[in-house]
Amino acid sequence: MRQAGRYLPEYRALRAKHSLLQLCHEPELAAQATLQPIARLGVDAAIIFADILLPFEPLGLGLSFAAGEGPQIARPIRSPAQVAQLPPVDPERDLAYVLAAVRLAARALPVDLPLIGFAGAPFTLASYAIEGGATRTFALTKRFMHDEPDAWHALLGRLAELVGRYLGAQAAAGARALQLFDSWAGCLSPEDYRGLVQRHSRRALELALSAGVPVIHFGTGTAPFLADFAAAGGDVIGVDWRVPLDEAWRDIGDRAIQGNLDPALLLGPRDALLERTRDVLRRAARRPGHIFNLGHGVLPETPVEALQAVVEVVHGG
Ligand code: CP3
Repeated sequence: MRQAGRYLPEYRALRAKHSLLQLCHEPELAAQATLQPIARLGVDAAIIFADILLPFEPLGLGLSFAAGEGPQIARPIRSPAQVAQLPPVDPERDLAYVLAAVRLAARALPVDLPLIGFAGAPFTLASYAIEGGATRTFALTKRFMHDEPDAWHALLGRLAELVGRYLGAQAAAGARALQLFDSWAGCLSPEDYRGLVQRHSRRALELALSAGVPVIHFGTGTAPFLADFAAAGGDVIGVDWRVPLDEAWRDIGDRAIQGNLDPALLLGPRDALLERTRDVLRRAARRPGHIFNLGHGVLPETPVEALQAVVEVVHGG
């Protein structure tokens, strides 16, 4: 999940001097942003500072981040011909700067603090590539998916190979766990997830698993088809707050789980926040294989002290 970000004063100070893409492109700066929240929060793992959309640069889609508006794709994919014309991408060469940041951050962390590498899942990446930015309805994505099934599968197939190899390269560079983010899979019907998406996530996860480190498969809004989501693969299944942790655990069977405090609770009264934190822990009931986490990323308005208080409770304070 996002650890760095606007809630953190030292991150805002870095961002005052550099754009988001500059921070990502410059391994020393990316490693610095990776380490910032670790010292502050006392969490048990670090996540490399990067973005799921970085592969769009070597894919030639044109990536930028506009203040307050999120990602913008200059040349979104709207036709089968554009899919056929996507250039080959070699993560070792074309995303070498991320791998350099992974090496630096992994070396700088204490041995008991693993670094998590990550990538976007084929569906979530395709949705940005087609929409050209954030969307509420996913209308263009869904239209493409149903109008052009061959091109859709070609696109997700390309993305699956790319992110699978990219995750493997991050493990080779020193990441000790990998996370695949299917942040927007929850916009799909169970039928469309199974028929048009699942096999591509499975392929990406298969490639990632062959790197030999634990793989976390994260999504939001996946409760209605969680068993299918879990069946795509991953050693750990990440869930958001829309489903109680114990119920989600029943759906995924004999597998580890990550989650699932609502990040918005960090904005409210401290008592309620800590009570809900304990509730997540109660539902995990000390069964092995629970990674306590937020159900999604930290919101920019979040007070640092609220995060620190949650970490303390999770650590048994
Ligand atoms: O510690 C960390 O923050 C790890 C690095 C990280 C970033 N993005 C940096 C970033 C991670 C893990 C991501 C993943 C990511 N990026 C996802 C998947 C996880 C999720 O949140 O669902 C997605 C969907 C993206 C795409 C993306 N990047 C969006 C939608 C935005 C805009 C968000 C906003 O509030 O405007 C970004 C920008 C981005 N990537 C920020 C950070 C810290 C925002 C802060 C900034 O502008 O400096």
